[in-house]
Amino acid sequence: MTQTPARRTVLLCTGAGAAALCVGCGGGGDSSGASPGQELVRTGDVPVAGGKILTDEKIVVTQPRQGEFKAFSAVCTHQGCIVSDVRDGTIDCACHGSRFAVADGSVVRGPATEPLPGKRITVEGNSVRLA
Ligand code: FES
Repeated sequence: MTQTPARRTVLLCTGAGAAALCVGCGGGGDSSGASPGQELVRTGDVPVAGGKILTDEKIVVTQPRQGEFKAFSAVCTHQGCIVSDVRDGTIDCACHGSRFAVADGSVVRGPATEPLPGKRITVEGNSVRLA
């Protein structure tokens, strides 16, 4: 007679565009608060060869080279922690030490084996927005 709460958790991950976020999130209902067109960050707030972690949106915006911006899921593909730092060309996860390249989200150091999923963004003037 009791309903299983697990079914409800799974349904949270089925929204349009949420599939990529749910990969590797361990079924934790990884819906971000970001919506298309939303400004994520100002370009001046993203250091070159570094990045800015947006914890609420679960997105990390990077600037691999001057004027080139990328964005990825901030959810570590190892066990789902939010990445903790961006410096020296890598996005770092403090939980178990995984590192991902700021240019393409690829794994630089494990234990993660899968890259951070990319996010589509647009740069309008000094504003980095979700596409
Ligand atoms: S959750 Fe990121 S390294 Fe394990």
